[in-house]
Amino acid sequence: MINVLFVCLGNICRSPLAEGIFCELVKQNGLTSEISCDSAGTHSYHIGNLPDHRSRRVASNSGLMLTHRARKLVSDDFGLFDYVVAMDESNFQNIQILSHRSTGFEMPEDRLFLMREFDTNTTEKNIPDPYYEDIAAFEEVYKLLTGCCENLLAFLVERHRLSAQ
Ligand code: 4NP
Repeated sequence: MINVLFVCLGNICRSPLAEGIFCELVKQNGLTSEISCDSAGTHSYHIGNLPDHRSRRVASNSGLMLTHRARKLVSDDFGLFDYVVAMDESNFQNIQILSHRSTGFEMPEDRLFLMREFDTNTTEKNIPDPYYEDIAAFEEVYKLLTGCCENLLAFLVERHRLSAQ
């Protein structure tokens, strides 16, 4: 099993949406026995909460139900997940700090990615934080994440020689 973890700050807006979109793509491609995914936050503000109502709304507009409960990234995640995908550079840095503290090493560049590395249309590095924005920002995040998730899945299929349906 290839385990993928999406990480943002609060684990209520961006990363649970990424998880929902990616899991649905995995399902549509018949890869649920090969790839699993989860999400976490680098901070503990919202532990135990469902995703933000605006993330749930944009997801449900596309037929996706988000049931994840927010959790904080923990040391054990570095042993459990093959790939960690950060929503922005600040999350990326905090992941590296926790990895170094937990394992003595930073995560290698073939296991820790910025989500926008999978956006072929831009040199922008961050999925913008929509928390203090309006619903249009969440719709934009949904659109960006969908493109990135498609390319991330294609990357994993190629790297692990999976056969997508
Ligand atoms: P997320 O968004 O990192 O995409 O889940 C945020 C959620 C909560 C806060 C900031 C960003 N907050 O400041 O509480």
